[in-house]
Amino acid sequence: MTTVLVTGGAGFIGSHLADRLLAEHYRVISVDDLSTGRIANLSEARGYGKEFTFFNMDVRSEGIMPLFERHRPEVVFHLAAQAGVRPSLEDPATDASVNIMGLLNVLECSAKTGVGKVIYAASGGTIYGEPKRLPAKESSAQASHPLSPYGISKKVAVDYLGFYQRYRGLDFTALALGNVYGPRQDPRGEAGVVGIFAAKMLAGEAPMIFGDGNQTRDYVFIDDAVHAFVQAVSRGSGRLVNIGTGLETSVNHLYRMIADIIGFTGEPSYGPLPAGELRRIALDISAAPSAIAWKPWTHLEDGLGETVAFLKGI
Ligand SMILES: NC(=O)c1ccc[n+]([C@@H]2O[C@H](COP(=O)([O-])OP(=O)(O)OC[C@H]3O[C@@H](n4cnc5c(N)ncnc54)[C@H](O)[C@@H]3O)[C@@H](O)[C@H]2O)c1
Repeated sequence: MTTVLVTGGAGFIGSHLADRLLAEHYRVISVDDLSTGRIANLSEARGYGKEFTFFNMDVRSEGIMPLFERHRPEVVFHLAAQAGVRPSLEDPATDASVNIMGLLNVLECSAKTGVGKVIYAASGGTIYGEPKRLPAKESSAQASHPLSPYGISKKVAVDYLGFYQRYRGLDFTALALGNVYGPRQDPRGEAGVVGIFAAKMLAGEAPMIFGDGNQTRDYVFIDDAVHAFVQAVSRGSGRLVNIGTGLETSVNHLYRMIADIIGFTGEPSYGPLPAGELRRIALDISAAPSAIAWKPWTHLEDGLGETVAFLKGI
C-alpha cells in the first residue's frame, strides 16, 4: 500500500482529496493546523480506520521532519496554505510565512527522506495577475504580476518547486487551480462567493456583490479538481498545469444561477471592489489532457446544484 501525505488535509480541497485517495487504497497521512480546516471535514476519512492518520500540526514546525521519517510518504500533496487573497493584503508577512516558509519546510523534509514527488496546489486565479490574453496559458506565468501577496507567494512556490527538482531530485507537478467550489467549501477561500451567496439566499437574505459584478472567474468543481491531483501522481512531471474550465463566469451570472437553483427572487446590493481582486480570469486548459490526462466534466449548473444541496443538508 502506497503511503501519501496530504498537508492542509482538514481543509476544503485537502479533505476531499484524502477521501478520494483512501477510496483508491492509498494510506493517507494528513497534516493540518486547523487554522481554517475543520475536524468535521475528516469524518469520512476517519471511517477508513488505520489507513488514515491525522496530525494537528503546523507545516512550519520542527515536528514535520520526524513525521516524514516515521511514515516515509512516497508522494506529498502540499495544500496547506494561508488560502485567502484578502488576509494576504492585510498581513503579507503571515502569508509568506505559511505559504513560502511552510512550503520550504515540506520540500526540505521531502528531499531529505526520499519522497518521489510533490503535487502542489497553485492558484490559477491569482498567479497570472490581470492576464493580457484570456484564457491565460501556463507560459504567461513567467512575465506575470500577481495583484496580491497571496498570488505572489503562490507564484514563487512554483519557482521553488523547479529548484528542488533541478538540484535536489524531487519531482513535482503544480496545479494552477481555478476557483474551486463545492460541498465543504470555506467561505473565506478563493471561490468563497459560491458558499456565501448560497448560504445567504437559503436564509432568505440578499447577498452583496463587491464591484459591479461583471468581474469574471473560472469556476471548477471540487471533484474535478481532486481528480487532477490523483492524475498527477504519475503524470505531469515538472509541469505547471491549469485546472479550470476555460469558461469565464461573471459574479452577476453566478448570482442568477444560484438564485434560480434556490428559487430566490431578491436583488443583490452592490459594494466597493476590494483591492487585489482581478477584473477577469479564465484558464487555458488545453495542456491538461496531454500533461495529466485530465479535463473537467462537471457543468457549473450541476456543481452549483450539488453545493446548494449540501448546504441545505440534503
Ligand atoms: N479553493 C480554491 O478555489 C483554491 C484555488 C486555488 C488554489 N487553492 C489552494 O488550494 C489549497 C487548499 O485550499 P482550500 O480552498 O481547501 O482552503 P482551506 O483553507 O480549506 O485549506 C487550507 C488548509 O490548510 C490548513 N493550514 C493553513 N495554514 C497551515 C499551517 N501553517 N500548517 C498546517 N496547516 C495549515 C488550514 O487549516 C486548511 O485546512 C491552498 O493551498 C490554496 O491556496 C485553492
